[in-house]
Amino acid sequence: MSKELLLKTEGLTKKFVSGNRKNRHEVIAVDHVDLEIGRGETIGLVGESGCGKTTLGRVILRLIEPDSGKIYFRGEDITRVNMRPYRRKMQIIFQNPSGSLDPRMKVSDLIGEGIEAGGSYTRAEKEERLHYLMERVGFIPEMASRYPSELSGGQQQRVGIARALAVNPEFIVCDEPVSSLDVSYQAQIINLLKDLREELGLTYLFISHDFSVVRNISDRVAVMYLGKIVELGTGTEITDHPAHPYSQLLISAIPSMERNERPVSSEQMIFDKPPTGCRFRYRCPRAQEICEQEEPALTQRSGDHYCACHFE
Ligand SMILES: Nc1ncnc2c1ncn2[C@@H]1O[C@H](COP(=O)(O)OP(=O)(O)OP(=O)(O)O)[C@@H](O)[C@H]1O
Ligand SMILES: [Mg+2]
Repeated sequence: MSKELLLKTEGLTKKFVSGNRKNRHEVIAVDHVDLEIGRGETIGLVGESGCGKTTLGRVILRLIEPDSGKIYFRGEDITRVNMRPYRRKMQIIFQNPSGSLDPRMKVSDLIGEGIEAGGSYTRAEKEERLHYLMERVGFIPEMASRYPSELSGGQQQRVGIARALAVNPEFIVCDEPVSSLDVSYQAQIINLLKDLREELGLTYLFISHDFSVVRNISDRVAVMYLGKIVELGTGTEITDHPAHPYSQLLISAIPSMERNERPVSSEQMIFDKPPTGCRFRYRCPRAQEICEQEEPALTQRSGDHYCACHFE
């Protein structure tokens, strides 16, 4: 991790209540997550569908309010503050680019809207900035007059990226930015995000259910299972020496993920009372009595490598 800490969460927790009045249950989507992200670093967040990745990303940006815990950005506690001054610095790129773009707006207007959100510019400055952003994301000027329906999925995602960049962010949550794209476009968008990171000194929280994508772009990887980070380490360390049985399961599934199959979704974490013990124990080949009784904490294994399991 780089020396300067950009973002930090402490015990970040978000619960959802669903069901009807008779059958109410709580889903702990994000459960006491502690995460530190250095400036310029990319943290990959990986885990099955429903494990809480999107919720964690959105809670960090305060697009969803946390129930408890703290969020620090550039050392400032932003858990309860008015987010207006921070919005520009903290952006999100969505999974489904077409759904996040107004179909009645042209590319120039969609990006222009982002530029206007970033500050007051003269017409000429705005024009110049549009030109710059279009070029940055790989568009020729003629694309400016296109509508979203006239763009490929990869091009729509480039518009989403330009809009996020328009306000000069420091931190971007990339929520499955390539999952809805054809494999042929995925590498292009990943490479674009990597180039932008280098040039603009961006910091990413890169969310994906696909371990091979996350490994490719991330400095460190956080493996999430039912609301908890169960393993954290460098991409190579986790790939070569996964310590948590759940990470081992995800990594053993890489060949099938590379065929772009979505892994099965984890059973929802529905509790009437707080869970006891390790929440992976139901699926764990190593589970023993202690796993039922005690929740394993995320503890250091070596250097940057942390794992939440009672066993070596
Ligand atoms: N607004 C909501 N109301 C109720 N439950 C919700 C809400 N949003 C998310 N959840 C629940 O919280 C849990 C985590 O959802 P989340 O969308 O964060 O998972 P995810 O890891 O992003 O999954 P995916 O890979 O499918 O995008 C799930 O059990 C989900 O059903
Ligand atoms: Mg999600």
